[in-house]
Amino acid sequence: MDYNNACSKINELSGGFKPEIIVVLGSGLAGFADRVDAKAIIPYGDIPGFGVSTAPYHNGRLILGTVEGKNVACMDGRLHLYEGHAPADLVFPLRVLRKLGAHKIFLTNATGGINTSFKVGDIMLVEDHINFQGRNPLMGKNDEELGVRFPDMTYAYNPELRAIAEKCAADLGIDLKKGVYIACTGPSYETPAEIRAFRILGADAVGMSTVPEVIAAVHCGLKVLTLSLITNMAAGITGNKLTMEEVAETGRKQSLVLGGLVSEIIKRC
Ligand code: HPA
Repeated sequence: MDYNNACSKINELSGGFKPEIIVVLGSGLAGFADRVDAKAIIPYGDIPGFGVSTAPYHNGRLILGTVEGKNVACMDGRLHLYEGHAPADLVFPLRVLRKLGAHKIFLTNATGGINTSFKVGDIMLVEDHINFQGRNPLMGKNDEELGVRFPDMTYAYNPELRAIAEKCAADLGIDLKKGVYIACTGPSYETPAEIRAFRILGADAVGMSTVPEVIAAVHCGLKVLTLSLITNMAAGITGNKLTMEEVAETGRKQSLVLGGLVSEIIKRC
C-alpha cells in the first residue's frame, strides 16, 4: 500500500495539517461535520488510494479542522464491505491518518438494537465486539511498520476513553447504554433467527461496519472509542420490516445529541 502518496497529497491540500483525532461519521452523524472549524475539505476521490463511498447518506470527504481546540480529521462517510471494497482498502484512510500523526479514533455507526432494554434513539458505548463478517483487514502479509502480526484485542475499546465517554454522557444527561457490537457484512438486514442467535452469543446491537476499522486501528496503535446509535430495533423484535429510511430518520433526529457527546469527549480527552 502506498501511504506516502496519500500523505503527501493531504499535506499539500491542507498546508501540513496534523490530525490528532480521527472521527468517523456513520449513517446519521453527518451533522457533526458542521461542528468542525474546517481548514481543508478534501473529496476522497482526490486522495490517491482512498476508495469512494457509494453508501447512501455517506458523503465521501475528509474534513480537516478543529473541534474544541483539537485537530480532528473527520471522515464524512466510510466504506463498507457490502460495497465490494476489499477489507484492506476500507482501512487505508485511517492508516494514512495514523501516519500523519493521529493517535485516537472515534467511530460512530448506526445499529439495530438486539438488547430489548434498548430503545430506538439510544446511544450505546461499545465495550467489545463479535466479528461475524468472516473477514479481517489484517489477513495477508503483515506490515511490521504498522503493527504486530497478532495484535491483542482484550482492550480494543480503550478503557480510559470509555470512562471519559461515560462521564461526559452523565454530565450531559444522556442515558448511555453499554454493550457488545456484532458486525455482519450486510447489505441485507439480518433475519429474526439470526438476531435470536446473536442475542444468545452475547451481542447487544448489530451493524454492517466498524469492526474492520477497529481491528486495523488497534493494530496500528490508535486508541479506539466507538459509539453506536440504535436507529431501529433488530429484525423480528417489533415485527416491523426494517428500512433504510427508518435508520436515516433516527440518525437525523439524534444527530445533535450524538454530535454533542462526541464534541464533549473531544474536549476532555
Ligand atoms: N442491522 C444491521 N445494520 C444496521 C441495522 C440493523 O438492524 N440498523 C442500522 N444498521
